[in-house]
Amino acid sequence: MPTWDAKQYLRFNDQRTRPCRELVARIAIDAPKRVIDLGCGPGNSTAVLAERWPDSGLTGLDSSSEMIAAARKTYPHQSWSIGDIAAWVDQNDQTYDIVFSNAALQWVDDHSLLLPKLLTRVAKGGALAIQMPANFDAPAHRIMRELAASPAWRDHFPASGIRERHVHDLASYYDLLAPVAAAVDFWQTEYQHIMADAAGIVEWYKGTGLRPFLDALANDQQRADFTAQYLERIQQAYPVRKDGRVIFPFRRMFLIAYRNRRQS
Ligand SMILES: C[S@@+](CC[C@H](N)C(=O)[O-])C[C@H]1O[C@@H](n2cnc3c(N)ncnc32)[C@H](O)[C@@H]1O
Repeated sequence: MPTWDAKQYLRFNDQRTRPCRELVARIAIDAPKRVIDLGCGPGNSTAVLAERWPDSGLTGLDSSSEMIAAARKTYPHQSWSIGDIAAWVDQNDQTYDIVFSNAALQWVDDHSLLLPKLLTRVAKGGALAIQMPANFDAPAHRIMRELAASPAWRDHFPASGIRERHVHDLASYYDLLAPVAAAVDFWQTEYQHIMADAAGIVEWYKGTGLRPFLDALANDQQRADFTAQYLERIQQAYPVRKDGRVIFPFRRMFLIAYRNRRQS
């Protein structure tokens, strides 16, 4: 499990929260009583849920005490809990009108078991709503893998390699959820983030995908060297546009699975 840094993560708050807003806007439920935000991070996604459903009982759950501390500081009146999503889903059979997770489930294993289980924690008439990055084959990810496997770096990483997170293709989530849901709404979007420069892409990943690589290195000097070489390659892969800025395409997938009122 990588370490998390709320401040670094929130450097791109607007871009990171936009998919959350789009997912929340699409959920066809008017007045949920109980909503849980799994992998709530510093509370930015929970705040979007609170905006749409101010009268619902909201809980944010995250395994990082640092993230929960940041959430609690910014939103002291919400309910926050430190816990692991995989453990939570098996813990008890209390249900929620909306089980929500934005940009977190890619860090949790075994989606073919996890997603149907998450739907069992949705109350009748409720929904499971998920957004995950679908960007793991993008140059920014390929480059971190290739750099870590290069002769200069491979001895600094575990022989088994860095355990990268991944998601399945969108249609396979439909196959998983369609048999157990009343309806499944799903789509993919490729956002085009405009970054001031290529270094912005590196800063972005320092808050997420680069963390397992940087955590595996022995000291700050190695981390600085690895990051500098990563930046050089990112500069080649993401060219500067005519206005001096850099386009950073980022694909994300969205899934909403509804539980019918009449389902058992
Ligand atoms: C990329 S952040 C997403 C934060 C927020 N939901 C948002 O929309 O921006 C991913 C969060 O998932 C949390 N996380 C990762 N694995 C987890 C797990 N197994 N159980 C609970 N939280 C987890 C991390 O601590 C991190 O705060």
